[in-house]
Amino acid sequence: MKALEGIKILDFTHVQSGPTCTQLLAWFGADVIKVERPGVGDATRKQLVDVPGADSLYFTMLNHNKRSIELNSKNETGKEVLERLIKTCDVLVENFAPGALDRMGFSWERVHELNPRMIMASVKGFGPGKYEDCKVYENVAQCAGGSASTTGFLDGVPTVTGAQIGDSGTGLHLALGICAALLQREKTGKGQKVLAAMQDGVINLCRVKLRDQQRLKAGPLKEYSQFGEGIPFGDATPRAGNDSGGGQPGRILKCKGWETDPNAYTYFITQAAVWEQICDVIGKPDWKTKEGYATPPERLDKLNEIFERIEQWTMTKTKFEVMDICNPLNIPVGPILSMKEIAEDEGLRETGTIVEVDHPERGAYLSVGCPIKLSDSPVDVVRSPLLGEHTEEILRDVLGYDGDDLERVKSSGAVGEVKAAAE
Ligand code: COA
Repeated sequence: MKALEGIKILDFTHVQSGPTCTQLLAWFGADVIKVERPGVGDATRKQLVDVPGADSLYFTMLNHNKRSIELNSKNETGKEVLERLIKTCDVLVENFAPGALDRMGFSWERVHELNPRMIMASVKGFGPGKYEDCKVYENVAQCAGGSASTTGFLDGVPTVTGAQIGDSGTGLHLALGICAALLQREKTGKGQKVLAAMQDGVINLCRVKLRDQQRLKAGPLKEYSQFGEGIPFGDATPRAGNDSGGGQPGRILKCKGWETDPNAYTYFITQAAVWEQICDVIGKPDWKTKEGYATPPERLDKLNEIFERIEQWTMTKTKFEVMDICNPLNIPVGPILSMKEIAEDEGLRETGTIVEVDHPERGAYLSVGCPIKLSDSPVDVVRSPLLGEHTEEILRDVLGYDGDDLERVKSSGAVGEVKAAAE
């Protein structure tokens, strides 16, 4: 049995933010029914195509364990099918541009009227307010959520991160909201609206930067490199390069091979608790007791000198040797892993964090498996559905259409061409 077994999700999501949410719910055991426009489907199916004619990796990696029904939600018969889906499912998840669902005729009021137990969960770019009508993509959210202004180097431009905190991050937030609403429904019997705005999700993940914004009132942020460099602070949290965001100073340092390998680096944290071990490892035992170096506050204006000395040592080792030497001493370090190294990591395959999946159009590909492990709800990653692969199955088995009624829907143009399953 799976954690969300018996829960039916009407998945009206597309692109990345919404699909990450419904993919997680599917991995936890929910039956996720993805509604797609006939003949077109989720736009990502045909974006960044690497195998001509096959669904893109962009799509396949975000839509595992779902069923796909082609349905024109603007056509009369399509609306009838959608109403039945709303009455049958527990949760409707959507990330349309603001107002699109209302224009389709499925406002929250209408959905609630059709099924008072239904939870209606939305990703939007912004919450209520002056920007609520705006369309938003990942990098816009990173910029509007405070991430870009605090990422990058002091002398460089605002920078977006590779981690999709606006899309996948908001999908995670929404999944949590849905699970909470499902639990509340156990007690109240009623559905509710769940909103995860991408700006809010990014702000949530940038919490430490808002912390620093307020700390600025009390003086310079001493753990930032710019303090040791004597560069004055402005009135907003600055970009901090690779400085650690916490109270334990850290930096990215070169390792053996850095001249030719762009990822021959390690993250190194000078955690106060292991300062003595660090001094021994880098060959500076006198720093353990030397005035100006012995305690964390004394060291704050010397971080550049200290990290330069540590780097002289890390440059004599590979990033994995640094890990092997520091870990037994409890010194927190981490190799800068390339995507190639992650793809080839056997440990990540064993835990199911990286999985190989077979697909009828494209063959085997790698994907990220479920990053959250439940001990009593194992995840089997199943390939993403082809467009409309389950249309007939859903009409028949989930919604109970059969005989002439089924033929009426199939010939109405509402569901596209009904195909036999690919496998
Ligand atoms: N049948 C008929 N029409 C359908 C349909 C279906 N099955 N599925 C979607 N459509 C229609 C919608 O009703 C909408 O029509 P309308 O504009 O006439 O009302 C249209 O398709 C386009 O939907 P929309 O969501 O506006 O897509 P877009 O490509 O214009 O915008 C985004 C894409 C991502 C910018 C926008 O959806 C958005 O801002 N979403 C919220 C934030 C978000 O999730 N962003 C991150 C995405 S990773």
